[in-house]
Amino acid sequence: MSKKTVQDVDVKGKLVFVRCDFNVPLKEDGTIADDTRIEAALPTIKYLQEQGAKVILASHLGRPKGEVKPEFSMRPVAQSLAQKLNTNVKLAGDVVGDSAKTMASGLQDGEVGLLENLRYDPREEANDKEFCEELANLGGGVEIYVNDAFGTAHRAHASTEGIAHEVDTAVAGMLMQKEIEELGAVVDNPEQPFVAILGGAKVSDKIGVIENLMKKVEKIIIGGAMANTFLKAKGYDIGDSRYEADKLEEAKDIMKQAVEEGVEIVLPVDRRMAKIPGDEKLTPELVEKAEYKEVKLTTEKDVEEGKAESLVGWQVLDVGSRTLDYYADALDGAKTIIWNGPLGYTESEKFAHGTEAIANYIANSNAKCVIGGGDSVAAINRIKKEAIESGENPKKFDNIYTSTGGGASLESIEGKKLPGIEALDNATKQNDRTDNGGNQKSSQKIVE
Ligand code: 3PG
Repeated sequence: MSKKTVQDVDVKGKLVFVRCDFNVPLKEDGTIADDTRIEAALPTIKYLQEQGAKVILASHLGRPKGEVKPEFSMRPVAQSLAQKLNTNVKLAGDVVGDSAKTMASGLQDGEVGLLENLRYDPREEANDKEFCEELANLGGGVEIYVNDAFGTAHRAHASTEGIAHEVDTAVAGMLMQKEIEELGAVVDNPEQPFVAILGGAKVSDKIGVIENLMKKVEKIIIGGAMANTFLKAKGYDIGDSRYEADKLEEAKDIMKQAVEEGVEIVLPVDRRMAKIPGDEKLTPELVEKAEYKEVKLTTEKDVEEGKAESLVGWQVLDVGSRTLDYYADALDGAKTIIWNGPLGYTESEKFAHGTEAIANYIANSNAKCVIGGGDSVAAINRIKKEAIESGENPKKFDNIYTSTGGGASLESIEGKKLPGIEALDNATKQNDRTDNGGNQKSSQKIVE
């Protein structure tokens, strides 16, 4: 069911509450490390300004756990927004207190204000009804709620779900709409051959995804530290590499199921390993200066029998060169690719090689690709930037859609319904949100 969007309603002169996902990574000095999510929110905000709406923006930042912690203040976001929008952004000193109320009431048509971090209030994550009402009553009553926070749409929190039932009109923002369309196209209606690339640290994060994809894809390419768990389950030596000991059986089951479904699981055939003992905490600095080598697959049995060198003291941090050829073969001719999670330790240039090579391969292909997950998206953005700086045509990357959702994009691929999207008005004529399982919307029905 498609959702009504901000462009389907009259916003002129209205008080509009926009939930964004400004949960951006911060540097140690408190400045923004990657502003992709802020950039992605601009079209909706600019549209609302141009249409003469009074715009209250709200987001969480980090996980302050219901307490006011200055290091999670929205101030750097407000500054970035003011610069990008070339306008004043009024930052409230609280979430629903006097400062927020004054800010919201004082907004003129086309003006923008930002609430302090929603998660300063414990009632946000609890989806507390009273808090939802307080948000909806800001400025004498929010007239339109816009959810543009796709990255947080998998959370049923007050500002992402509950508030939608406290206002008359709850619609998707332009980013939200684009994410629904892009992810929906590959998940619901992928052009075959369809190949998935799954990386990142944990098999446990991706089990639901693998199960759902198993019915749709021809191949699942597995990289990142999660490949270690699969290789270990197959009896290969992974040295001191990270893996999930309690997921070995699950990995075996997945491989068995893949055979039954006729899906090819593509695992690395060689690895780039760094000389770092398993008990050392991985940091970019440590990884950067570590000795490294490419190592082909050897079994634990071979090591026990002295036929292969032990990899104790070494950790897999990226896929090897032969694996890249092997992955490229698996991607050859693919029409749709879904990618979540990096193939190596991309925080270090040396071990971002696999992720970058595959991203370049896809950019040069005709496949439609959707990428989600902070680290893989950051790696793609870096490659894109470097390529464009060195004179490449930016259009080269048009076939790659980078989602702003990590957990949210994963849950979409799993086929789960996201509460932040479910709570929005359907794009139908008869629209009664009391029907969609939401919480106690006040007495009035929506008549359109
Ligand atoms: C994200 O970064 O995935 C979203 O902003 C949600 O953040 P959370 O995982 O802290 O709920």
